[in-house]
Amino acid sequence: MTAHDSEFEVAANDDEPRVADGGDEPQATDGGTEPLIRVEGLHKSFGDLEVLRGADLSVSKGESMVVIGGSGTGKSVLIKHIIGLLRPDEGKVTVDGRVVAQLRRSDLGELRRGMGMLFQYAALFDSMTVGDNVAFALRQHTRMNAAEIADRVEEVLAMVGLSGVQEKWPAELSGGMKKRAGLARALALGPQIVLYDEPTTGLDPILADQINDLILDFHQRLHVTSVTITHDMISAYKIGDRIAMLHEGRIEEVGTPEEIQNSSNPVVQQFIHGRAEGPITTR
Ligand SMILES: Nc1ncnc2c1ncn2[C@@H]1O[C@H](COP(=O)(O)OP(=O)(O)OP(=O)(O)O)[C@@H](O)[C@H]1O
Ligand SMILES: [Mg+2]
Repeated sequence: MTAHDSEFEVAANDDEPRVADGGDEPQATDGGTEPLIRVEGLHKSFGDLEVLRGADLSVSKGESMVVIGGSGTGKSVLIKHIIGLLRPDEGKVTVDGRVVAQLRRSDLGELRRGMGMLFQYAALFDSMTVGDNVAFALRQHTRMNAAEIADRVEEVLAMVGLSGVQEKWPAELSGGMKKRAGLARALALGPQIVLYDEPTTGLDPILADQINDLILDFHQRLHVTSVTITHDMISAYKIGDRIAMLHEGRIEEVGTPEEIQNSSNPVVQQFIHGRAEGPITTR
C-alpha cells in the first residue's frame, strides 16, 4: 500500500485507457498558454451528498493558486481529483494535457511522480521514522541507491529546517515539525506540482508564517506550480498569485489577492472577513 493508495477511492486498476470523448484536445486559452492544471465542470457526489456541482479552475504553469471555502465545501475532494485519488462523476481534470481519469495505471504513476501532496491529516506514517517517511516515495518511484536516498532525505529535511531528525518517530515531533516533515516528504521527488491541503492549520501564527515562507521559497526557487487549500486568509494573501473561492460546489470567484479583497461579491466578503451573518449558510 502506498501513501496515495491509503486515500484511494478508485484505483486506476484497469490497464486499459478509457476511450477519449473527443473533447480532450488541449485548447489554447488566455494568450495561447494551456493551463498546467485544468478542472472543467467537475461534479462529485457521495451518496445523496452533492459536493462538487460543476467546479472549474485553471492553474497556469508556475502559478500559486489558493483555494478557500467553508468546511465541508469540497476543497479536499477537489484536489484529490487533481492527483487522481478520486474520479469525477462528470467533468474532467487535465494535468499537463492529460485527462487524469483516463490514464492507465502506469501513466497515473508517472503523473504522480511529478506531484507532491501534503495531506490535510495524517501527513506521516506513524509506524515509520521521519527519515523513512521522507524516503518512501524515493524507494518506491526511483532507482536511487541507499546512499543517494539518504542524501536526498537530508537535503529535503534541510530545506524545511529539520536537518538530522531522520531517526525520530512522528509521535516525537511537534505539530509544526510534523507539517514540515510532511512538506519534506511531498518535495522528495522534486515535483513540478505541489498540492498543499491546509498547510498552516493548527499552527501558531509564527510557525504558520514559516510554512508560508517555505511554500513561497519552493515556488520561487523551484518554480513549482501549486494549489493550496487554506482557511487562513493571511496565508492565502501571502502565498497566492490568485485565490479561488469554492462555494456550493462551484468556484464562486477567482482573482488576485487584491481582487478578492476588493470583491463586491457578498459570499466572498463574508468568508474572507469571517462574518457569521451573510449569504453563506452552514449546515
Ligand atoms: N471519500 C468520501 N466518502 C464520502 N464522503 C466524502 C468523502 N470525501 C469527502 N466526503 C464528504 O464530502 C464533503 C466535502 O469534503 P471535503 O473533505 O472536500 O471538505 P473540505 O472543504 O476539505 O472541508 P475542511 O475545510 O473541513 O477540510 C464532506 O461532507 C465530506 O464528508
Ligand atoms: Mg479539507
